[in-house]
Amino acid sequence: MRTVDIIMKKRDGHALEREEILAFVQGATTGALPDYQASALLMAILLRGMTTQETAWLTDAMVHSGITVDLSDLPGVKVDKHSTGGVGDKTSLVLAPIAAACGVPVPMMSGRGLGHTGGTLDKLESIPGFRTALSLEEMRAALERDGCAMLGQTTQIAPADKKLYALRDVTGTVESIPLISASIMSKKIAEGIDALVLDVKTGSGAFMKTEADSRRLAESLVSIGNASGVRTEAVITDMDMPLGVAVGNALEVIECLEALKGHGAADLVDCSLELTLRMLLLGKVASDRDDAEKRVRAAIASGAALERFRRIIEGQGGDPRVVDDYSLLPTAPSRHLVPATRAGYVARLDAELIGRASVMLGAGRDRVEDAVDPAVGIIILAKPGRQVSAGEPILELHYREQAKLDAALTLISRAVTIGDAPPALRAIIVGEVR
Ligand code: URA
Repeated sequence: MRTVDIIMKKRDGHALEREEILAFVQGATTGALPDYQASALLMAILLRGMTTQETAWLTDAMVHSGITVDLSDLPGVKVDKHSTGGVGDKTSLVLAPIAAACGVPVPMMSGRGLGHTGGTLDKLESIPGFRTALSLEEMRAALERDGCAMLGQTTQIAPADKKLYALRDVTGTVESIPLISASIMSKKIAEGIDALVLDVKTGSGAFMKTEADSRRLAESLVSIGNASGVRTEAVITDMDMPLGVAVGNALEVIECLEALKGHGAADLVDCSLELTLRMLLLGKVASDRDDAEKRVRAAIASGAALERFRRIIEGQGGDPRVVDDYSLLPTAPSRHLVPATRAGYVARLDAELIGRASVMLGAGRDRVEDAVDPAVGIIILAKPGRQVSAGEPILELHYREQAKLDAALTLISRAVTIGDAPPALRAIIVGEVR
């Protein structure tokens, strides 16, 4: 079969055969398929879509482009959580230690921030010494020792995704439900988990801007997971405004530590709680939602979850003293307050614009190989719904360079809306797919 025929077939809106999808994935992984043809097919898939069957075959081909980890000899139901990406989206650092402290083994393979969204690996690496580049043997050892491993995707796991994601990122082909589904689920299926809770974001700061698209993505992800033997459920959560109060790597670590000490912002706590409850139920360490909630709250109140995070940090080479002494985390040299332009209610803090402003400050990257500045970012002093007087600070920008601050402020001026009346705010939990 000629690659150009496969591209034209999809371009004209037809469904591909399993062998055609396999040839595409194998060719992209080995490099035999030129990037221009792989990119053309990705664009045809973005424009024409894929059937459920095609998406399942694509996922399967991507899973088998690398190895599949077998954790079946380790006790317990292994449960991971994955988010489709957002701004201030830091729940992994809150829920992984809680779930582990409650007895659920958590092998968590995460990503880096890309575009306006943050990434768990960048946040963890702002802790001095913390290593996320664990080998599979080290992941196994961490699971046995601490009940949790937080690491990056190793080169053996779904290498096809690494190649295709890099192409999608530079060819405008990220926002496709079948491509996102296969990308996320191939990595999750290959990492050897028994169950998965997905946090599918919806709103301005998410890949899927509308609730209908987010639901379609959630349904696609859940059906692929369950068909592959990974018990999967999804929660759809709001991403119109950043989650919690911190955006930026070290600032988010501090916010997570505060949440584990019982002082989290309401939306961060509600979102983390919902996801953790589901992990406990899928992990079979709680009998029902009430029991799960009691266990989660007890793990926070007793300090067990915080202690577990300290152990995870130490186990992965990080400095555990950061738990009690935030001054050991990177700190930006300068701060700038953004005031309310008039009296009223904070009506909107646009998640995408705030995410992009944080990237401008240096907290994120434009290209995969860019380095991030762990110290810079944004603290939200007044969340939507808060009444403010003229001049009252709404945001605090932590920055290093004046030029970057100026660029960020241009975006921030469009991100904040002050209204006359209290805004109608959507609940953080928008829906679920089981
Ligand atoms: N996260 C992924 O891992 N893949 C995508 O395609 C989008 C978000």
